[in-house]
Amino acid sequence: EKGTYPHYMLKEMDEQPTVIRKIIQAYEGENGELAIDADILKALRAANRLYIIAAGTSYHAGLIGKQYFEKMAGIPVEVHISSEFGYNMPLLSERPLFIFITQSGETADSRQVLVKIKELGYPTLTITNVPGSTLSREADHTLLLHAGPEIAVASTKAYVAQVAVLAVAAYVTAKANGTGLEFDLKQELAIAANGIQTIIDSKDVLEDIAEDYLKIARNAFFIGRNIDFYVSLEGALKLKEISYIQAEGFAGGELKHGTIALIEEGTPVFALVTQEDVALNIRGNVKEVTARGAYPCIIAMAGVDEDGDRLVIPHVHELLTPLVSVVPLQLISYYAALHRRCDVDKPRNLAKSVTVE
Ligand code: M6R
Repeated sequence: EKGTYPHYMLKEMDEQPTVIRKIIQAYEGENGELAIDADILKALRAANRLYIIAAGTSYHAGLIGKQYFEKMAGIPVEVHISSEFGYNMPLLSERPLFIFITQSGETADSRQVLVKIKELGYPTLTITNVPGSTLSREADHTLLLHAGPEIAVASTKAYVAQVAVLAVAAYVTAKANGTGLEFDLKQELAIAANGIQTIIDSKDVLEDIAEDYLKIARNAFFIGRNIDFYVSLEGALKLKEISYIQAEGFAGGELKHGTIALIEEGTPVFALVTQEDVALNIRGNVKEVTARGAYPCIIAMAGVDEDGDRLVIPHVHELLTPLVSVVPLQLISYYAALHRRCDVDKPRNLAKSVTVE
């Protein structure tokens, strides 16, 4: 039930800190350390390459999961859009593990890949929010998101849960393999949960940004580098699906290879700056688009921020920034949709789970 909330989406965004705290609890082992089911850990450790299969927002979470498994656990990862997988099946490694990321557990495009992979006899793991869902039942293993029912068509809390659970799985695998990780993920997730809460508590700032940048915009761009690029893809998808504004996410460095031609006087450009190593470069991209008339909105993380940034979000561990940086983008989309009188929870042409291929 949405109770006093005007929309499920707003309620679900508000639940995000709680969802992360629930995940910390759900994945706490007997010794208080983060843990996952022993069979799943065995499957992850046995694989020499992971193949992540997903669609939409879940695909965007998968891109971040790739960084987690590669950077924390040193396991190579490929991320595939489920509807494309069948046309261009990659050459598989010797010991693949297929990971299906799906909020609903019912997405037909992803299920089609699962069926094929099972026929081939490879091990499978589904990361889903819905226990007993088709992809959960049909895979060898399941990791649950513990996000609670997600009703709004636009996925918000499930994305944050997917990113958090992927972090937990990569971290636990890395620890078991003795890869020397020097941070305490449990603690860092708790910090991220608090960071999200801080953003949620200052929603009015995001409402102002939405009005200022998007009330009458025809299009918008989201840019970032490194992990921020993946979050910019998600920011653009959120805006497209609920406000119907043409929006694209880009890697900052790609702009000059074509897209910058679309920048006109007043074009909104949202730039994420959370990664210290690329902060200067992405700020350079902001200058390039501003010089061509763009209306830039820099969303920077504390510690990498500068005077004049439109929004500064709380500092979190550099790998966990997507958990926090996505939240202002979700809220900006929400308020943009409200300003444009769109049906936030049930956008046109879309269904919550896409059960046709
Ligand atoms: O249930 P799934 O995670 O498999 O759904 C995949 C996509 O259909 C879904 O993420 C979609 O992109 C959302 N509406 C995005 O907000």
